[in-house]
Amino acid sequence: TPGWVDAHTHLVFGGWRQHEIPLKLKGASYLEILQAGGGILDTVRQTRALREDELFARAQGFLDEQLRFGVTTTEIKSGYGLDLENERKQLRVIRHLNSEHAMDVVSTCMPAHAVPPEFAGRTDAYVDVVCNEILPRIAEEHLACYCDVFCETGVFSVEQSRRVLETARALGLGLKIHADEIDAIGGARLAGELCAISAEHLIATDDSGISPLASGGVTACLLPQTSLYLNKDFARAREMIARGVAVAVASDFNPGSCPSLNLQLSANLAYLRYRMTPEEILTALTLNAACAIGLGDRIGSIEPGKQADLTLWNADGMELLCYRMGSNQVQAVVKRGKVVIK
Ligand code: NIG
Ligand code: FE
Repeated sequence: TPGWVDAHTHLVFGGWRQHEIPLKLKGASYLEILQAGGGILDTVRQTRALREDELFARAQGFLDEQLRFGVTTTEIKSGYGLDLENERKQLRVIRHLNSEHAMDVVSTCMPAHAVPPEFAGRTDAYVDVVCNEILPRIAEEHLACYCDVFCETGVFSVEQSRRVLETARALGLGLKIHADEIDAIGGARLAGELCAISAEHLIATDDSGISPLASGGVTACLLPQTSLYLNKDFARAREMIARGVAVAVASDFNPGSCPSLNLQLSANLAYLRYRMTPEEILTALTLNAACAIGLGDRIGSIEPGKQADLTLWNADGMELLCYRMGSNQVQAVVKRGKVVIK
């Protein structure tokens, strides 16, 4: 197949969050843990505490693991810095990974991933900082291609998300949006209205959100491992496809809602829970994923003129690959015409 593309990760971070599992098993929800200063904010503390070289070394190991799972291009978001210096630090790590590692890396800034502790209870004041200080500097330093925002109950409202994304657009950044991951507060409609390149998660999106995605030409970037890990519903992929929305499937690798880098597991879940066909899944992990990060003209299919990124599998077709959950079926990986895993 073409090398697989992981169009959605939060791969540069400090620490892990295994201590959240017992809390969740006792009934604490993802948003409750975040409201109590844990969750994303826990990872913000652990990421701020690491130097750039330490974050780089850790992330390099994650990219090695992705390659072994057959991924040849990945997107990475910031969003564990949540202040100018720490967001820039994360984004410089992402840039450095792209230049040093065999993996191609696309960079997304996400300073509106959570409200940092310094601004607790003052979300609008933090949005001012994001729009007036953080995004302009990131754009000036060409540290990101895209801007993403966590549009969610208790995090950033539709209006706050719109402000962040309109500012990003005026600065020349492409737009992505974490929409309807937990509650359908209007994120998918906003994505459609702004013609974002992609909308992420869409777990709670209903018909009223699917139409705007279709009319706005937004790629739905679906993350089935997160549904599994948060014990949530699975996005309505079949309805999206039926309505003409291009669907990509990615991992969402992060220390809270998806501590897995195995994109093959996303394929298995897309088969079983989204009820996508093996052919649709292959497209979702290659060409549609490439389009979700703006690289559809360079990668995502095997054709003359495109980069020779290939994954060779120990499986005689996508049907077997989607069915054999849990094992790594990669035989070899070719990146830009060179064998990097065998
Ligand atoms: O896509 N929802 C926001 N961001 C991530 C989770 C990040 C975290 O929990 O650290 C997500 O699920
Ligand atoms: Fe995410």
